[in-house]
Amino acid sequence: MQIAPSVLSADFARLAEQSAAVANADWLHVDVMDNHFVPNLTIGLPVVEALHSASSLPLDCHLMIEDPDRWAPAYAEAGASSVTFHVEAARAPVRLARQLRRMDARAGMALKPATPIEPFEDLLGELDLVLVMTVEPGFGGQEFLDVVLPKLRRARQLIDKHGGEVWLQVDGGVSLATVERCVAAGADVLVAGSAVFGAADPAAAVTALRAAATAAAG
Ligand code: DX5
Ligand code: ZN
Repeated sequence: MQIAPSVLSADFARLAEQSAAVANADWLHVDVMDNHFVPNLTIGLPVVEALHSASSLPLDCHLMIEDPDRWAPAYAEAGASSVTFHVEAARAPVRLARQLRRMDARAGMALKPATPIEPFEDLLGELDLVLVMTVEPGFGGQEFLDVVLPKLRRARQLIDKHGGEVWLQVDGGVSLATVERCVAAGADVLVAGSAVFGAADPAAAVTALRAAATAAAG
């Protein structure tokens, strides 16, 4: 089980400190939003570059942007260890995933809550990570959408059938209240924003999420 705190809920004026505060996590999840693919604007390449220098954690960039075919490789170049694009926005997802892997980044494909996994089954061999959104992308602190759980289970089945090492990441509304549902459905990477950076002690929140996830995984 891996825990990826999302800096979307961190204090943007103190990103280096906030990243150091969750040094016990596995990844730092960075939500890039362009105000077109989603109705919110967050951070882009210069901040990812700065975080790459300042943070000891590998960066997991979640691109909620139009035209990832054009922009995603630059995030690998900027130092992201993992680059996830939304398949709804990608024009050539196979070409893009291959390009990211050639740049030594993990290639991730993200699905909005209403996007099915089945049409993309054959892409699994091109991917290192599938991100299933359990809120509509754009904002932190939203309520977990249980309606997505059956898709999470189907994604787990397809990944197991396919074999190979593809991580199944769940993003949106992940907290101690929902972690068990996520793990039972097959997630092995948990993204959590408000549950970590909204807590008085972010490192303790990471530890608690990890313990709950490990217990749920049995
Ligand atoms: C939402 C982002 C999430 C967000 C999750 O569009 O992709 O990563 O930070 O925040 P919480 O955990 O508060 O739902
Ligand atoms: Zn995210």
